[in-house]
Amino acid sequence: MANKNSFVLPLLILLLLQFYCAKSELQLNYYSESCPRAEEIVKEQVTKLYDKHYTTAISWMRNLFHDCIVKSCDASLLLDNANGIESEKNSDRSFAMRGFRYFDIIKEALENECPNTVSCADIVALTARDGVALLGGPKIEMKTGRKDSKVSYAAEVDTLIPNHNDSMATVLSRFHSVGLDTEATVALLGAHSVGRVHCVNIVHRLYPKVDPTLNPAHAEYLKHRCPPPGKEKKPVEYSRNDLTTPLVLDNMYYKNILDGKGLLIVDQELTTDPRTSPFVKKMAADNDYFHHQFARALRILSEINPLLGDQGEIRKDCRFVNTH
Ligand code: HEM
Ligand SMILES: *[C@@H]1O[C@H](CO)[C@@H](O)[C@H](O)[C@H]1NC(C)=O
Repeated sequence: MANKNSFVLPLLILLLLQFYCAKSELQLNYYSESCPRAEEIVKEQVTKLYDKHYTTAISWMRNLFHDCIVKSCDASLLLDNANGIESEKNSDRSFAMRGFRYFDIIKEALENECPNTVSCADIVALTARDGVALLGGPKIEMKTGRKDSKVSYAAEVDTLIPNHNDSMATVLSRFHSVGLDTEATVALLGAHSVGRVHCVNIVHRLYPKVDPTLNPAHAEYLKHRCPPPGKEKKPVEYSRNDLTTPLVLDNMYYKNILDGKGLLIVDQELTTDPRTSPFVKKMAADNDYFHHQFARALRILSEINPLLGDQGEIRKDCRFVNTH
């Protein structure tokens, strides 16, 4: 009898421990029991929004980057100014981010199906995954189970997200510090295969004289899009990143930067830094390889330092921490 007990008890503890651990790490289909249709609902909404406003598919990707690279994939990005919280959305690095209001629509659809169950941080991750697929990017297996932060890191956003003109050394050391290796960094910048850049982030490469790393014909095009500072007719002028396939997440980005058509200094630097340029050439030559690396990199990005188990909370409204 004593023998039998001394065997069963440790086994029980082991089983319980395994259960506990499994519940407090990210996993595929985390909501399979608590909200079986969660991922389907997100995909439905993302698809519906894409059909109405295709740019939403682009925003989800940038949102994931700006949420995860700042401390943790914890939806801290989505908090509004309220109750002593200063929103990350107002920081310099969040310039021209768009589509935040669409999170409200998705969260509402999920709250209707299963209240207080699906975190905003997981919505950030799943929408990015589905947005990538709609843009013709790779299919990505995205784990879930993130919790939402109760704080914002507005004061640190500008130091934690690289600037458009930072050196590649700065960019790489920042990305390496969160587990993104050089190949993953090169792949993630491929997100700039879609979307736009506003003239404020371009004009310093055109005036007073053209940056010699810019393709001269492309510089002429950009001068036409972006008049000298102070001479703009309207303040919202911008250029699309990729004039050939502007709505497709493909390796045209790498062909473009090899051709001197990168809009940001960081884009162009990928081709000149000896650590990154071999990967640029490989990605320019092989779209499947780019997609494979992009999927791997986005998964790493989406799993930076998540809040798990009873850390954080599941926000009722993605814009505000819960009040109870
Ligand atoms: C060194 C890293 C990066 C820097 C310095 C950077 C900087 C920028 C800047 C300055 C813009 C243009 C804003 C504007 O003028 O409208 C932009 C746009 C964008 N970025 Fe990045 N970015 C970086 C990495 C990433 C990553 C890793 C992703 C996603 C995986 C990403 C996704 C996007 C997207 C999708 C846009 C277009 C947004 C739109 O059209 O609404 N970026 N980025
Ligand atoms: C980078 O751009 C910012 C504006 O976004 C500017 O204030 C800063 O001086 C630039 N840095 C360098 C090294 O050119």
